[in-house]
Amino acid sequence: MTDLDATARRILQGNDRGGYTVPTAGLYPYQWNWDSVFAAMGFVTFDTDRAWREVETLLSGQWPNGMVPHILFHKVEPTYFPGPDVWGGVGPVPSSGISQPPIAATFIRYLADLDPSGADRAKAMVGPLTDWHRWFFDWRGEDGAICVSHPWETGRDNSPDWDAPFAAIEPANLDAYYRRDTTHVAEDERPRRWDYDRYLTLVKLGHDCGWDEAHLREVSPFRVADPTMTFTLLRANRDLLALAQRFGAETAEIEGWIAAIEAGSERLWNAEIGAYDTFDMRAGKHSGVISNASFLNWYAGVRPERMLDHFDRIAGLLPYGVPSADPQQPGFEPKRYWRGPVWAMMNWLIALGLRDAGHDGRATALCDTTRSMISTGGFAEYFDPRDASPAGGRDFTWTAATWLAWASPTAKGFPWQA
Ligand code: DGY
Repeated sequence: MTDLDATARRILQGNDRGGYTVPTAGLYPYQWNWDSVFAAMGFVTFDTDRAWREVETLLSGQWPNGMVPHILFHKVEPTYFPGPDVWGGVGPVPSSGISQPPIAATFIRYLADLDPSGADRAKAMVGPLTDWHRWFFDWRGEDGAICVSHPWETGRDNSPDWDAPFAAIEPANLDAYYRRDTTHVAEDERPRRWDYDRYLTLVKLGHDCGWDEAHLREVSPFRVADPTMTFTLLRANRDLLALAQRFGAETAEIEGWIAAIEAGSERLWNAEIGAYDTFDMRAGKHSGVISNASFLNWYAGVRPERMLDHFDRIAGLLPYGVPSADPQQPGFEPKRYWRGPVWAMMNWLIALGLRDAGHDGRATALCDTTRSMISTGGFAEYFDPRDASPAGGRDFTWTAATWLAWASPTAKGFPWQA
């Protein structure tokens, strides 16, 4: 174990609230959906029972309609806004009203491989995961491309991808509000007020109709097909299929989703720039933005020959990749959250895909730069791609987990081959 391994463990233990892990104290004091799955991957390197509990607690917040929320407000913390009353979630645990990238099935499969004694726990998750994936397909699917109803659903909150759809939204009926995020993190590393007004407008729309998805699909001004969702769900369905086969569950429906999303992912291919990007269903337009999510096609097992040229071009521009936005496009800001900084856990997903697609050299190089980035900048939420300086929250759960499970020299390295 290295010193950094010990620090990473201490961060996970320090962020542990008993059955769930907060991304970082203060800024994000609740259980976040995909953060929590990464947390489990960190825990499994030294405490398998705690790893399983993390995902069990996450699934305990599943709504009757199958949705697994992006935030579970297990106990109210005044350091965070917008809290449970603003969201008005309708599930068994106070929650937000949207979901997040469904990476859970993929990493539950990995957990089950690492800890065969947890087979019964994995088996019990197949039904809930299937219900959650069906929710995506029913409410977010557009001919197999998976949409989001809020930028927060993708995790890539203020990506330049949302600039055009957001410009078309006029903030309406907002009560005065006080942001808490900028009391924890420098303002120039966070989304702007302009973005927040629109985030909250969309939250209010959902809140006011009790998160009626049929209604929202009709009236929401924001419906964008997104590579984060489409590619993580496609991969998650492949891994759910493997779990269903292992435990003798129904597979036909899952096979149908895989075929449909494989076809639907073509909607995200922007031939003009030769890259995957988002597609705004309301405006009928691609964003033209190359983000780090554009490189998740390998993770999804889609068209392994695509995106390599952009990957190599961007790797040649900055010492620490993969930046969350292309430095050669307008909108790039190297310190502002999802408009440029590098996210260690995105690098892990991209590298997993690269390895599965047979691009081993690139996968190893990305692991090496991620290792050196964390060694330089510490366990920050995200990093400046120019010099690996830390940005956003500190002592961050998913960065610590990504270190333990993948980037540390002592990590087991890549799990199963897809
Ligand atoms: C926030 O509050 O900034 C989160 O990203 C929402 O999920």
